Amino acid sequence: MAARLAARRLLGLAAASGSASEVAARRLAPSPIAAAGYAAASRAPVSRPFSTALNYHIDSPENKPDMKWEFSEANMKKVKEILSHYPSNYKQSGIIPLLDLAQQQHGGWVPVAAMDAIAKIVEVAPIRVYEVATFYTMFNRAKVGKYHLLVCGTTPCMIRGSREIEETLLEHLGVKRNEVTSDGLFSVGEMECMNWSDCVVISDVKINFIHISGLHWQGCCVNAPMIAVADYSKGSEGYSYNYYEDLTPKRVVEIVEMLRRGETPPRGTQHPERKNCGPAGGNTTLHGEPKPPPCRDLDAC
Ligand code: FES
Repeated sequence: MAARLAARRLLGLAAASGSASEVAARRLAPSPIAAAGYAAASRAPVSRPFSTALNYHIDSPENKPDMKWEFSEANMKKVKEILSHYPSNYKQSGIIPLLDLAQQQHGGWVPVAAMDAIAKIVEVAPIRVYEVATFYTMFNRAKVGKYHLLVCGTTPCMIRGSREIEETLLEHLGVKRNEVTSDGLFSVGEMECMNWSDCVVISDVKINFIHISGLHWQGCCVNAPMIAVADYSKGSEGYSYNYYEDLTPKRVVEIVEMLRRGETPPRGTQHPERKNCGPAGGNTTLHGEPKPPPCRDLDAC
């Protein structure tokens, strides 16, 4: 059964990115990175619309394992600070925050050489870093635009129109998913649910949370569909990660055009009648102060 599923997936990948034999060869290579050697470096990057395809690395002139990559002096101090949170024999616990830091330093994406550098720092085999970087969609492993537009693909957003939002973005910008516009300004990717509960998990590993702690987006599934706009162009100190909720195809195009003009669109809900995550048009229940349950009055119990 698993073999049948794998074969079907291979055929799908072949249709998207090359011949079946090419894809099979990549799949059979001993590791995702070793598979890189198979692909010709001169070949233009292909668009790979299937999420499983994101597990593959293809060498490109700007992303090869033999490139030199290291953290900047300032970021090396942060690396030491991050690792100080973990026991010295569990340095690998720092892989996620180090990948995040590398991504901030490298303009929004993490090349293979950066993953190798992190593996050396935390003293694990490189595959231990690759498997984390390929699992979490927040890590981009190819160049992104100045504004990386991440459309939420999880169920509440999907049933509220995220597919249309993505189609509109791709059509308006003239790109495929994960491609960068020719002016380098925009790329479109997909992310899973960006709700507050996700951010609690993120905060546990001490990344991103402080940058997105405005809480205006808390409970963002309520305000589906939504996108996140990541801007890493100002490096580790100044990157931003903003959420735009209650989107319509018309509004998402307006937001893109505001970003193109260098403006900062108002974050959070775009619904004119919604305040934060409250019901659009005002409360429909709880019109007054709710009474506490009787058992809260301990003297009366
Ligand atoms: S489902 Fe899209 S933000 Fe939760």
